Amino acid sequence: MVDLYRLFNPRGIAIVGASREPNKIGSVILRNLIEAGYEGKIYPINPNAQEIMGLKAYPSISAVEGTVDVAVISVPAPKVPDVIEDAGKAGVKFAVVIASGFKEVGNVALEEEVVKRAKKYGMRVVGPNVFGYVYTPSKINTTFGPNDIIPGNVAFISQSGALGVALMGTASVEGLGISAIISIGNKADLDDSDFIEYLGDDPNTNLILIYMEGISEGQRFMEVASKVSLKKPIIIIKSGRSEAGARAAASHTGSLAGNYSLYKSAFRQSGILLAETIEQAFDWAKALAWNPLPKGDNVVIITNGGGAGVQATDALADYGITLRRISDTLAANLKQILPPFASLGNPIDLTGLANAEWYYQSISLALDDPNVDSLVVIYCRTGMTDPKEIAGAIKDALKSSKNRKPITVAMIGGEAEYEAMRELTREHIPTYPTPERASASMGAIYRYYYAKKYVEERLKELDKKKLTALERIR
Ligand code: ACO
Repeated sequence: MVDLYRLFNPRGIAIVGASREPNKIGSVILRNLIEAGYEGKIYPINPNAQEIMGLKAYPSISAVEGTVDVAVISVPAPKVPDVIEDAGKAGVKFAVVIASGFKEVGNVALEEEVVKRAKKYGMRVVGPNVFGYVYTPSKINTTFGPNDIIPGNVAFISQSGALGVALMGTASVEGLGISAIISIGNKADLDDSDFIEYLGDDPNTNLILIYMEGISEGQRFMEVASKVSLKKPIIIIKSGRSEAGARAAASHTGSLAGNYSLYKSAFRQSGILLAETIEQAFDWAKALAWNPLPKGDNVVIITNGGGAGVQATDALADYGITLRRISDTLAANLKQILPPFASLGNPIDLTGLANAEWYYQSISLALDDPNVDSLVVIYCRTGMTDPKEIAGAIKDALKSSKNRKPITVAMIGGEAEYEAMRELTREHIPTYPTPERASASMGAIYRYYYAKKYVEERLKELDKKKLTALERIR
């Protein structure tokens, strides 16, 4: 494993190309790092400045007296090799090369030169062509993206820059807390596998979300991903599904997007969840990051709308989940609290008259029933109920039960339901605006549940036969 400890826990960070002009990329990075509250030493490097943002500026990294573990390099591409040389001499361990203008535009030799010089000093390179990285436990933000990041347990690795920066904002809106964001760009040296492997052991990360265009070392990637997916879910959005998309990826980061169906099969074997859209990836991430894993596959739907229940049932079926009848005990207990016209099948239809108390009681009973493994709870707007109260009932039922089970919620309707959805999201109860998304996200939990079992079995088998994962698929 590549030891990335000092990248994520550096004693000092140099921003090379920190500019006197506030809107240049180097300045935004410096400002983000200061504002993020990084507690190590920050060294702006600029031969033309004495001081930037109140910090003493240095003409080069070798002029710095303190320890610099990371150099974030934001000077034009042709200047990067010399900066790397200087950083190497100063004992820098990691260079994060922001500059574009390398392999992605045909400058392969320049990119190779950067890696060659770094290697000479045992320095590792992130990028080039990246927007920087974030690690919230160390209060680091060396990106030129936003700074309103919610700390949490999801690590996000992006091969795309602009999309990565934009998704930092999406994560905030979705209420998804972040442990790390890493822009890997052209991956001239450190790649997905290195970061996945390290984050697999990172106690601050419980899920890894990746936007990927292509991988070069497939064998190593599968080995690493298989091991890590036993510990935590890995969700990948793999672009270049179509031929045209693959061509676009090649001109974006110089990646070979490859054959999508090969990726699909390799991901399946490694326990990776392949998301087809960004929306799906974020939906799944919330469900997986905020829920425990189920103990079995008995999913129960509780709804106040028959049609929404049917939609949710269909969406679960798309993920291979068939609903079973609820137990006689649960049915008998529900009968005590619900009106005679409520339907006690699965979905449990509380009917349009359902109030907050019915939701509270039926969720509590389902959580306490040992036959129920997971819950999809659906609320459709009605004229008689306040979605805020329903959200409160869901929250209270989860809080007061001693049984933790996976749950996803749909709040369907208008602005008031969206507000209730946001309220539940703030409490880390994965909530969606449609029954299909709530069910699909529950489906993703089960996809991971089975993928983990599958990988466990496969690795055991491989171990027995003393075969590596690659030998097996060759
Ligand atoms: N060491 C330190 N500082 C230096 C050096 C040096 N050797 N040489 C020059 N500088 C200073 C400059 O004087 C300048 O400071 P000043 O403004 O106070 O004079 C500062 O460093 C920056 O240098 P510039 O030449 O002004 O470079 P600029 O900031 O315009 O651009 C950059 C550099 C951002 C790296 C640009 O070349 C580039 O590649 N931009 C694209 C970045 C990008 O998009 N990356 C991919 C991200 S992913 C995405 O898609 C979002």
